[in-house]
Amino acid sequence: MSLMRVWLLVGWAVVANGQFPGVCVQNASISKICCQTPPGFTDICAGPSRGVCADIPVHYDVMLNYSTQFLSLNDERFVWPIKFFTKTCYCLGNFYGPGCQHCKLGFYGSDCNLRNQLIRVEYRKQSPQRRQIYQNALNASQTTLTGYEILKSYQMRSAAEVKNLVFSSTTWYGLWAWHLSYAADRRIVSSDSNLSVNPDTAGNGSGFATWRRYFLLWIERVMQQLANDTNLFIPYWDWTADYSCAICSRSAAGNIKAGFLPSKYDVDLCLSKPFYDPTPASRQNESFRACLEGLDQRVRVVLGWNSAEQAMREPAFLNHLAFLDKIFAEWYNRRRPPPTEFPEQMTAPGQSLYSYMIPFLPMATHASMLTATENLGYVYE
Ligand SMILES: *[C@@H]1O[C@H](CO)[C@@H](O)[C@H](O)[C@H]1NC(C)=O
Ligand SMILES: *[C@@H]1O[C@H](CO)[C@@H](O)[C@H](O)[C@H]1NC(C)=O
Ligand SMILES: *[C@@H]1O[C@H](CO)[C@@H](O)[C@H](O)[C@H]1NC(C)=O
Ligand SMILES: *[C@@H]1O[C@H](CO)[C@@H](O)[C@H](O)[C@H]1NC(C)=O
Ligand SMILES: *[C@@H]1O[C@H](CO)[C@@H](O)[C@H](O)[C@H]1NC(C)=O
Ligand SMILES: *[C@@H]1O[C@H](CO)[C@@H](O)[C@H](O)[C@H]1NC(C)=O
Ligand SMILES: *[C@@H]1O[C@H](CO)[C@@H](O)[C@H](O)[C@H]1NC(C)=O
Repeated sequence: MSLMRVWLLVGWAVVANGQFPGVCVQNASISKICCQTPPGFTDICAGPSRGVCADIPVHYDVMLNYSTQFLSLNDERFVWPIKFFTKTCYCLGNFYGPGCQHCKLGFYGSDCNLRNQLIRVEYRKQSPQRRQIYQNALNASQTTLTGYEILKSYQMRSAAEVKNLVFSSTTWYGLWAWHLSYAADRRIVSSDSNLSVNPDTAGNGSGFATWRRYFLLWIERVMQQLANDTNLFIPYWDWTADYSCAICSRSAAGNIKAGFLPSKYDVDLCLSKPFYDPTPASRQNESFRACLEGLDQRVRVVLGWNSAEQAMREPAFLNHLAFLDKIFAEWYNRRRPPPTEFPEQMTAPGQSLYSYMIPFLPMATHASMLTATENLGYVYE
């Protein structure tokens, strides 16, 4: 019944009202249309100047020749999001959101015509006031219910079975953790024995950097709403300067398990990689993405963040992701690669250039994140 709630809360729903259109819930298993009239507006998709109700373009990943089969495979995530919805609001201009009631990344104001360039700063260099605002918003995200709900369990579901789902309510932070787990969960495809691909749809593949970029941007937006402060940013944690995790809030502080955090040398090595993510696998030594993901793995091993769940238990994980994103931004600015460099085929499911990142809604392609961060409304100090 409450399937639609998932999409809405992903859509940067306005924290203050927490409403969601019940009509969409029913449509998820029937008409598969979700074109809401957002609160405060009189037309669907907030009216013709903001958006129109349109078909979701279907993008088949071309992977190991499984492309068209993805749709019939029993994994509800593949060919996102059309196993749930085939029509949604398509927002025009600077508008954005499940009902086009919000602003595109980098834009603010009631008409979405104000620009605001965020500067993400290293956590030690924040002002005490900024630190407090961030901490308060983080705390709020851990206690504030989204008003929406998440899937209680993941199953293999064919298109025909996408109904009668079990949901539970959650906090914003719980929702973010859910996104990371849901995208990477292997259980969903484990019995599809014909599928010899890696079921991680958010990592171990080309989409690693782009998926995390969108993830952080969404989290940052929600935290801005929680703090009522459009200047709130997620600070990054430069671990090359550290021997322990001083930023970690929990037992992980000083809890370096084995080995060392990567050094500046390791980061420079990644920055020197000539391509974003070339195929075939024999060229992975030239892949910036593979190198960056290697840094992530090293940090996580050292800190004991072995799974998505474990990583999200430590809020400093977000600051770690912001540092990875900073490295990505730096590499991008040096190389300015054409989008064609991002693989369009032979990627893991959901991770090709034009596939929608799983499980976000409003949808966003990897391609939309493969740009200078200025275009998305933020830079790094
Ligand atoms: C639900 O689907 C019906 C068509 O069956 C459509 O008329 C209605 O606008 C849809 N509701 C939403 C919120 O998209
Ligand atoms: C991919 O599938 C098509 C049609 O199903 C087939 O003609 C082609 O040979 C396959 N390619 C590979 C590399 O298996
Ligand atoms: C955030 O919550 C933690 C415990 O959950 C508490 O120790 C800390 O003081 C809170 N911080 C703020 C700024 O409220
Ligand atoms: C695997 O593929 C074969 C041949 O295409 C098919 O007969 C079989 O049912 C498939 N198995 C599963 C679990 O989908
Ligand atoms: C990542 O994917 C490769 C194949 O692309 C696979 O061999 C490897 O086991 C995967 N690693 C993890 C940690 O899943
Ligand atoms: C949010 O901030 C703006 C200006 O910064 C202020 O005018 C407004 O009253 C605030 N809203 C709430 C709910 O605190
Ligand atoms: C990657 O490996 C190939 C051979 O395995 C080698 O020719 C190439 O120079 C290497 N590239 C880099 C950037 O190390």
